[in-house]
Amino acid sequence: MKHWDQFLGPYKQAVEELKVKLKGMRSQFESDPDHSPIEFVTGRVKPIASILDKANQKGVPLDRLEAEMQDIAGIRMMCQFVDDIMKVVELLRMRNDFEIVEERDYISHKKASGYRSYHVVIAYPVQTIHGEKKILAEIQIRTLAMNFWATVEHSLNYKYKGMFPDDIQMRLQRAAEAAFRLDEEMSLIRGEIQEAQAFFSRNKEMQQKNKS
Ligand code: GTP
Ligand code: MG
Repeated sequence: MKHWDQFLGPYKQAVEELKVKLKGMRSQFESDPDHSPIEFVTGRVKPIASILDKANQKGVPLDRLEAEMQDIAGIRMMCQFVDDIMKVVELLRMRNDFEIVEERDYISHKKASGYRSYHVVIAYPVQTIHGEKKILAEIQIRTLAMNFWATVEHSLNYKYKGMFPDDIQMRLQRAAEAAFRLDEEMSLIRGEIQEAQAFFSRNKEMQQKNKS
């Protein structure tokens, strides 16, 4: 049996560091005339039970987890608009603090389930007391609509263990189409939305200045 605390330590460290770094990218846009392509960032270490379930399903031996399970450390970056996703990917490609080992584009090629997102798998060096350790982490980049759908589908998947009743299956497909259309509609009024958001953040800044 694995010593889980020891095994997961570097993954926890990596998730914490990556959250700080990638949230930092968002903050940098606050003092930049360009609108931030990043809306918010989340991260988690996969729970042990989920690691075991997935290893079991995929036939991954536990001593191969490091190399074969790419999402023990998981980060999500949410965007307002579909076009922002590739901007975020470009920003990730420019960074020097990790190496991209794989990209999976489920936006141009959505999954049969209806799932859409852009996945970037990175090798991230963690500094430990035993020296540097490179771990794999998966960054999922998606719009708010894609995230809403994926979160709901994930919960239902958990409940039905992937064996959806026909009516739920149909509703999920329709919800995926609706999320896609929502993204399209938002893209069409992107200029309008960003003007309003810029206006409100300018107003907020002025109010804060007036107070101080
Ligand atoms: P996984 O075994 O799911 O990791 O598949 P994979 O190794 O082929 O990688 P993939 O990039 O397809 O999926 C990795 C992650 O993307 C998953 O762990 C989920 O977080 C997410 N994902 C992929 N497909 C779906 C889906 O159909 N629905 C939802 N909700 N999430 C998905
Ligand atoms: Mg995977």
